[in-house]
Amino acid sequence: MNNKTVFVDLETKNLSLKQISMEYKEDVFRQFSDENVSKYLVDAEPFVSMEEAEELINWYTSPEPRSYHRWVIIRKTDSTFLGTCGYHNWDKDNNICEIGYDLYKDYWGKGYMTEALQEVIKFGFEEMELNRIQGFVHTQNHKSVNLLLRLGFKQEGIIRDKHLYRGNYYDHFCLSLLKREWKESDEKDLFYHKDGF
Ligand SMILES: CC(C)(COP(=O)(O)OP(=O)(O)OC[C@H]1O[C@@H](n2cnc3c(N)ncnc32)[C@H](O)[C@@H]1OP(=O)(O)O)[C@@H](O)C(=O)NCCC(=O)NCCS
Repeated sequence: MNNKTVFVDLETKNLSLKQISMEYKEDVFRQFSDENVSKYLVDAEPFVSMEEAEELINWYTSPEPRSYHRWVIIRKTDSTFLGTCGYHNWDKDNNICEIGYDLYKDYWGKGYMTEALQEVIKFGFEEMELNRIQGFVHTQNHKSVNLLLRLGFKQEGIIRDKHLYRGNYYDHFCLSLLKREWKESDEKDLFYHKDGF
């Protein structure tokens, strides 16, 4: 199954997760040029031109099979672009993949990413047949750490000097969620917005 096409659009109660595409290039540019979003994303420089957004979208939309995917997160009620999320570095021999995510600052603190990632994680374990989903988070990015802990990830330790950025090395926490823990967890539906936003 690992060489077949696998990625599809996803839905949650309040959100549509659609494959990133040129339709969203202005949103993608705004997102990755924003200093609030890029503050702890020390594996890349913030965007300064629309061409960079186009390059990113082209990369993410190369034909499958590929080892990465990005969804844009769209609020259903008004079609607002909230952010993006996805997978990269899919290790198909060991069924491991890295999760990534970002919301525009106006939409922080409302539970949107928790809702989106619950579906993305389900997709990872059930459709990508992952055994382990991992995340690497800048040690000062408390919101991101809290998000993964809320979703059941366990903190494993610190990867020292994980990224070199503008002449400095940055430590990152490594967090992971295993399929067996996710299956056992009664909490996986806990943070759904049962009452809407
Ligand atoms: C990481 C990031 C996505 C986290 O955003 P977030 O808004 O904290 O996450 P959620 O959308 O899941 O919202 C959860 C927050 O909303 C609150 N919330 C409010 N209403 C809620 C509801 N109905 N349901 C769930 N949570 C709700 C939660 O209490 C939580 O706040 P808290 O952490 O202060 O307790 C965001 O900070 C971001 O995009 N940062 C920039 C990019 C980045 O660093 N990405 C990660 C790289 S590793």
